[in-house]
Amino acid sequence: MPTKPERTDPDPTSPAGEHVLDVRDLSVHFELQGNAFSRLLGLRRRTVRAVDGIDLRIGRGEVVGLVGESGSGKTTLGRAMLGLVPATGGAITYHGKSGTAEVTAMRGAALRQLRTDLQMVFQDPTAALNPSMTIAEAVAHPLVIHGWGSREEQRARVVATLERVGLSPVESFLDKYPADLSGGQKQRAVIARAIILDPEVLIADEPISMLDMSVRAKILQLMLDLKRDLGLTYVYITHDLASAKYFCDRIAIMYLGRIVEIGPTEEIFANPRHPYTRALLAAIPDPDPDRSIPRDLPRGEIPDAAEPPSGCSFHPRCPVAVAECGWEARDLKTLVENHWTRRTPEEYDAESAVVGPLEDLAGPDAEPRLGRAGAGSTRELLERIRSEDPDEPLWRGVDDIVDDGDGVRVDFHPGIDPGLRAAGGVQVACHLYPDEAGASGSGGGVPPNAGQSA
Ligand SMILES: Nc1ncnc2c1ncn2[C@@H]1O[C@H](COP(=O)(O)OP(=O)(O)O)[C@@H](O)[C@H]1O
Ligand code: SF4
Ligand SMILES: [Mg+2]
Repeated sequence: MPTKPERTDPDPTSPAGEHVLDVRDLSVHFELQGNAFSRLLGLRRRTVRAVDGIDLRIGRGEVVGLVGESGSGKTTLGRAMLGLVPATGGAITYHGKSGTAEVTAMRGAALRQLRTDLQMVFQDPTAALNPSMTIAEAVAHPLVIHGWGSREEQRARVVATLERVGLSPVESFLDKYPADLSGGQKQRAVIARAIILDPEVLIADEPISMLDMSVRAKILQLMLDLKRDLGLTYVYITHDLASAKYFCDRIAIMYLGRIVEIGPTEEIFANPRHPYTRALLAAIPDPDPDRSIPRDLPRGEIPDAAEPPSGCSFHPRCPVAVAECGWEARDLKTLVENHWTRRTPEEYDAESAVVGPLEDLAGPDAEPRLGRAGAGSTRELLERIRSEDPDEPLWRGVDDIVDDGDGVRVDFHPGIDPGLRAAGGVQVACHLYPDEAGASGSGGGVPPNAGQSA
């Protein structure tokens, strides 16, 4: 498994001045034990690398966006910042008003105390509110848990906080139940509960994605108002770059547990560098219905985080991948399978008889070998696939195709894991960018638009 290159400065894009949160080389891996049956079958134990070596420093008063498709590790990173999920490597340090704390080392009462300073707002306000508690009880709950004030003081603080989040007239909300409120009103109540202990940091995990379009902007505006008035710092988690543009000072683009690009919001939008960032931007629906813009991300789904692609984990989907991006047996399998979707059943029968089963190519450690039944015709088939689509990026990674008496072996160029490197004010993990700092990574002086398809 490739390792990440060492970096001296953990997050050079973070603002000068105080940092409220300091995430260093954080990993959160989940061991999937499997059931007794899968163990009986000798199936491998799987480790999901939900967060895999992340460095991130968050400045006081900053709004940092964590952006990526579902499964990229955003929620896990956010939960780790609150100590809601244990780190398997690295550290998170919180520099609070009342001192410095190692979140990743905290347990029990210390963690509960930390929740007065760091709070989370979740995606689904309905699930976040207990249906049998009134709004007043729900919003007062953190005060009760932390033994803050008398009943009267608690009540007064709830009223002031509900006012603050725009649930007015407050009297008409206090004794209502969540079911009586609209989605936007429920999210306001959840935000009220999150700010009632006067936290320093709010981690908002897709706070608007389950709300009606009409109220999304209003909730984001409320959060910006609260930030201004209460001096909050935000971590804003979203799969939607458009809302991040509106909301964030800085954006970290995540893919399979890593940050692949991070920098100031304007720079990310004006000059997206990572091919994944470009794809996310192209997928933002255009408000002008007459302009047709591709809505889909290129080439398939986000891969399995338990068996990430080698080299650059974006390479199977990357339209501009180059030789060292990490080509492997699994890509060969996809190539042949995609070819077969364009064949007639008869052609498929003939070709698959020559190539043999593709299952041997399935795992991350599989050998890229095909066609034990007939090396000559397998080589011909590969050449035919290549001539059908010579621009397919995989061919850039093929150094040689060798008949060695046991079918053909496809020799791929050795893959290199691209570490984050500096590129014009952002950090980007992609081989297309030579490392400006010259300290790490392996960017080979390839111009940023090399191989860029139109
Ligand atoms: N408790 C868990 N146990 C096992 N796998 C998990 C757990 N939580 C998250 N994962 C996995 O970790 C990866 C990242 O998930 P998540 O952090 O929820 O991503 P995102 O919020 O970006 O959608 C996914 O592959 C997900 O299935
Ligand atoms: S390193 Fe860059 S070019 Fe190569 S696959 Fe990854 S994103 Fe694409
Ligand atoms: Mg999530």
